[in-house]
Amino acid sequence: MSFYQVKESPRPELFDFHGVPMSHFFTDNWENIQNFQARPDDILIATYPKAGTTWASYILDLLYFGQQERQTSVPIYDRVPFLEAFFPPHHSGKDRADNLPTSPRLIKTHFPVQFVPKSFWEQNCRMVYVARNAKDNMVSYFHFDRMNLAQPEPGEWSNFFQRFMEGKMVFGSWYDHVNDWWKKKESYPKIHYMFYEDMIENTGREIDKLCSFLGLSPSAEDKMKVTEGVQFDNMKKDDMANYSTNPVMDFKISPFMRKGKVGDWKNHFTVAQSEQFDEDYKKKMKDATLQFRTEV
Ligand code: A3P
Repeated sequence: MSFYQVKESPRPELFDFHGVPMSHFFTDNWENIQNFQARPDDILIATYPKAGTTWASYILDLLYFGQQERQTSVPIYDRVPFLEAFFPPHHSGKDRADNLPTSPRLIKTHFPVQFVPKSFWEQNCRMVYVARNAKDNMVSYFHFDRMNLAQPEPGEWSNFFQRFMEGKMVFGSWYDHVNDWWKKKESYPKIHYMFYEDMIENTGREIDKLCSFLGLSPSAEDKMKVTEGVQFDNMKKDDMANYSTNPVMDFKISPFMRKGKVGDWKNHFTVAQSEQFDEDYKKKMKDATLQFRTEV
């Protein structure tokens, strides 16, 4: 199904896939994905959708390949392929990853941790996980599902709000996703767990931490260039970063680079919804070592 066919087709349905709600675009190529052959220097960028995937991808891509011409000619989703994406007749994310000319290869996934192909673990690959507080993540996901024709219909906000709490979203429950990746760090130390809110608060500091995880030591000047280049307003203007070249997204409904803020949830949640959400959150998020900020 081409991007143009996606536009003509009904929105995909959610269904249960090995215990996780998914849409067929990310499961149709399952066997091939599970057989993906990772290399030891591959870097997996993993997130729940809308947690800052593109931001982290852009940072890593600039850190490694900032000087190269592809920056201005190849969209970020081709520089950092989305492993499980499958929109025939376009090349699958898995094929794109196989054919990446770069070293290291930067590969994106939204998979919950138990779906990650085993060779990434066997090859002891580095993984960068980005998490974002649930309230802003939910709002961002809502607007994304409105404008992305390859996602299920979001319905009304109040309905989406309930579904998010029930975990009935593509790639499953936010709560399980962030917790399971967090727990995985205990047994697999090559996961660098980042928070969107920290990146907003101090991008330079977070880039420093990321560099030390990756074993990179850019010059002060290069680091400045990266920090500056990945600010929201710069990425929003950059057609290679802002998804304006992607035909399944309708920017008339909502742009991909929408607000880029912490705390936009306050413009969407009613007081009653916020209370209901907080109550439910306490029951689901029992691990005191994993703390999110809903404002900075
Ligand atoms: P909003 O919808 O809240 O604006 P993903 O890349 O995982 O799909 O996440 C998209 C979200 O990250 C969007 O959030 C987008 O605006 C935000 N984002 C992308 N680049 C950003 C940047 N450089 N600074 C801050 N937020 C950014």
